[in-house]
Amino acid sequence: MVTKIINEGIVEELENWFDNYLREFKSGDPGWQPNIILKEKHTRMVCKEILGIGRKIGLKDEELRLARVVALFHDIGRFEQFARYQTFVDRNSVNHAVLGVKILKENKVLNRLDKSVRDLILRAILYHNRFALPKKESEECLLFARLLRDADKLDIWRVVTDYYHQEDGKRNAVIELDLPDTPGISNDVYEDLMGKRIVDIAHLKNLNDFKLLQIGWIYDINFVQTLQCVLKRGYLAMIRDVLPKSEKITEIFNVLQAHINEQISPLKAQ
Ligand SMILES: [Fe+2]
Repeated sequence: MVTKIINEGIVEELENWFDNYLREFKSGDPGWQPNIILKEKHTRMVCKEILGIGRKIGLKDEELRLARVVALFHDIGRFEQFARYQTFVDRNSVNHAVLGVKILKENKVLNRLDKSVRDLILRAILYHNRFALPKKESEECLLFARLLRDADKLDIWRVVTDYYHQEDGKRNAVIELDLPDTPGISNDVYEDLMGKRIVDIAHLKNLNDFKLLQIGWIYDINFVQTLQCVLKRGYLAMIRDVLPKSEKITEIFNVLQAHINEQISPLKAQ
């Protein structure tokens, strides 16, 4: 296993590098602060979530350390992306995963690690925002990529459900991907979800579609432990609360519930 090479000292050094790197963005334009802090907190929470899932599936300490590093750097491209374009929408700026890998390479951040470990981390980061994971990849890399994608989703559910239910009701275009708050849902999004598929981002036309995209992530969860966590925290119910009460929404949630029941069968939950 390549993971043995990462010791606690290296993880701490990498965490220090992350803190230093963020300093310049935090002292930049004061108007950017809430968005920079949003992504910093997200990163810290994804580190926490990846450890939570990792422990539940029985990873060893050295694997948990590697998982932490993958989570720590997964969104490193977000800060530069925001500084350059003032948006987190990749299609209007850059692919933030690609940018993140570039930043890590240019700054030689992972150079103290063995090349095989370094490459694994970079590939897991590169895959984290893709529609699907590649078929041709090592099982070890896929394990960390799967963990990262689940941990990332768990924390985005926290961010969006907090946001939908915040008391002041203020809107933040940065979170909503600049989508309009118009009535109804798009037919393509409905079709995706009725077919038990994750929603294609190209199908999003309004804020309801965006909420449904987050519902559809259930079809892209890799570990039953993550699913149990989502249910325990009530994220799906919180999103449903802010969706229209329509026949189509009911149908979508019926299909979703059947899928969840199938996944959480007594056999799989063991
Ligand atoms: Fe990301």
